[in-house]
Amino acid sequence: MSKPKLLMTRRLSPAVIERAARDYDLDLNETDCVMNADELLARAQDKDALLVTLTEKFTAEVIAKLPPSVRIVATYSVGYDHIDLAAAKARGIRVSNTPDAVTVATAEIAMLLILGAARRVPEGERLLREKKWGGWQPMQLIGRRLDGKKLGIYGMGKIGQALAKRARAFDMEIHYYNRRRLSPAEEQGAIYHGTLDSLLGVAEFFSINAPSTPETRGAINADVFAKLPRGAIVVNTARGDLVNDGDLIAALKSGQVAYAGLDVFKGEPDIHPGYYELENAFLLPHMGTSAIEARDEMGFAALDNIDAVLAGREGPSLLV
Ligand code: DGY
Repeated sequence: MSKPKLLMTRRLSPAVIERAARDYDLDLNETDCVMNADELLARAQDKDALLVTLTEKFTAEVIAKLPPSVRIVATYSVGYDHIDLAAAKARGIRVSNTPDAVTVATAEIAMLLILGAARRVPEGERLLREKKWGGWQPMQLIGRRLDGKKLGIYGMGKIGQALAKRARAFDMEIHYYNRRRLSPAEEQGAIYHGTLDSLLGVAEFFSINAPSTPETRGAINADVFAKLPRGAIVVNTARGDLVNDGDLIAALKSGQVAYAGLDVFKGEPDIHPGYYELENAFLLPHMGTSAIEARDEMGFAALDNIDAVLAGREGPSLLV
């Protein structure tokens, strides 16, 4: 019996490719180049399933042109803002994401950005690499400790909660704003704020952990930065388009925001050029889930969903 046909749009980890090649007639994008809509549609012909990433945009127009053979689009990410779910649903195409696989790795990068921004790590690294370090000085690159500081988490889903757990180990006081209040077991002592404004009033550290939706896009703007305590640290490991970059850059220049730790950017990889000039920004190239454990789990989760849908079952994390 012939195997179902699967398109893998990027070169994923070896273990994921091995499992996919074992179970499917695999069309792997060996070049790993990002495919445009035409290339994507050409490669999707006759496929039963597409294993895709956030670099492929499944707009309503692209989804309308997918061949009828495609039964599932499984994205190798928790975020699904690159897929028009309503359009997929209207065509009866299932869509899945990988909500559990990314949690620990992304929370670790958020913690790294909090620590790196608080202790001015990028400036220290540059000083050394540029051979400008003149030796130990009592008041060189003075940052601040995390203990006793208030961490405000905007979006207390799985990643927000995993970040809170790690930040508690650094003796930070956890505050959060979320659409729904968590149960006491989930809260683990975190202090709930019924409005974003209330959270902003206390957040010495402000971590963005909410998804990109029509409501959240651009929501982290000048008004938000003005309501933070002066000298706050802002960290984003969610999606870049939540933040108004011009407003954040202005807040970093004025000192209203002392430091930013950013792993995600609007329009990445073409990020706002203003960031390159700033000393007080710790910038990473969207590597929240770049840990081999996460990469394998993300691929296996996507394949679990594909296996299920092609076998006529419900998958573990189907969105539509
Ligand atoms: C996600 O999962 O949405 C990350 O941004 C990419 O791994």
